[in-house]
Amino acid sequence: MKQTVSFDDVLLLPQYSEIVSRKSIDISSSLSENIVLDLPIIAAPMDTVTNSYLISRMNKHGATGVLHRYNTVHQQASSLKSINGIKAAAVGVTGNYTDRALKLVDAGANVICVDVAHGHHALVKHALKVLRNTIGYDIHIMVGNVATLEAFNDLADWGANSIKVGIGGGSICSTRVQTGHGLPTLQSIIDCAQSDRDAKLIADGGIKNSGDMVKAIAAGADFVMVGSLLAGTIEAPGESITINGKSYKKYRGMASVEAQIDWRGHTSSIEGVSHMIPARGRLEKVLNELEGGIRSGFSYTGALNIVEFQSKAKFVQQTSSGLYESRTHIKDRF
Ligand code: XMP
Repeated sequence: MKQTVSFDDVLLLPQYSEIVSRKSIDISSSLSENIVLDLPIIAAPMDTVTNSYLISRMNKHGATGVLHRYNTVHQQASSLKSINGIKAAAVGVTGNYTDRALKLVDAGANVICVDVAHGHHALVKHALKVLRNTIGYDIHIMVGNVATLEAFNDLADWGANSIKVGIGGGSICSTRVQTGHGLPTLQSIIDCAQSDRDAKLIADGGIKNSGDMVKAIAAGADFVMVGSLLAGTIEAPGESITINGKSYKKYRGMASVEAQIDWRGHTSSIEGVSHMIPARGRLEKVLNELEGGIRSGFSYTGALNIVEFQSKAKFVQQTSSGLYESRTHIKDRF
C-alpha cells in the first residue's frame, strides 16, 4: 500500500543562502499571461470566507479570492461587478451553471471556477465542454477538487487552466470520516506536480500557517487556497460575537448541515462542520504575516523566486517527537 505524507510529517532542509534582504525575493506566481499574483494566496469560495469586499482587499494586496456560488445568479453577478482587480467566481456543474457562467462573464469575470467536491467526474468533463462552447477560450477556467495525478491530467485534458488539488484535508471537512476517501493534501500536491500538462496547481485544504504554504509551494503548488486562515478577519463575511470576553467569527464547510440548509433548504451527504473561530483582526495584518513567512521560507532555502525554490527545496520526514519539537513547547516544560 502506498505510504503518504502530510504537512506535519515533513520539514524543509535549511540550505546555504546569499539572500540579504527578504524584500529581494519574488514570490509572485502567474495564473495566466494576464493574471499574476504578487502573493500566491487565493481565498476559498465559501460563504464565510469570500465576499466582494474581502476579494477587493485581497486584490489590493496582490492576492485574490473566488466569489462563492451559494446565492442567486443576480446576487453573485452584482457582487462580482463591485470587485476591483481580478474577478474570479464559482459555478457548479448542474442546474443553471451555464447561464450563471455567462452572466458572470458579462459582469466582468476573468476567472470562472468550476467548484465541486469530486472533480474527477463525468459531470465535470461535460461541464467543461459546455462551458468552453459557451464562454470560449479567453476566460481562465479553474476546476476542482482532485487528489490524484490521473485526475489532474484528465482535468487538464478536459480544458482546465488551473486545478485545485486536495480532497478531505480542509479544516472544516468531514469527507474522510463520512466517506473513507481522500489523500493528505501534501501528498496530492507531490503526486499532481508530476504532471506534464501546463495547468497551474492550486493547493487546497488543510493549510494552517505560512509554513504549510511554503511546504505546498516547495512540493510543486503554484498557489495556495485557504479558508480558515482568512475567515476570522474583519473583512470576511459575518459579524464577530464575544464569548467570555473573546471575539469569534463563524466558519463553516459548504457541505455542513448549516450551510446546506441555508442554501438549498435540505441536506444530502454531510461532509463538513461549522465552527466558531477566534477573530483575527484586519486582513492586511494576516496577509502581511503570511507573506513574511513565505519570504522567510524562500530565504532558508536560498531561493529568489518560485522556480528556483522548487528546484532547490529538499524535504525530510520528521518523527512525532520531531513534530513536538517543531511546535513551540515551552508551555509543556514550565
Ligand atoms: P481550510 O483548511 O483552508 O480548507 O479551512 C478550505 C477548503 O476546504 C474545502 N471545503 C470543504 N471540504 N467539506 C469538505 O470536505 C466541506 O463542507 C467543505 N467546505 C469547504 C474547500 O476545498 C476549501 O477551499
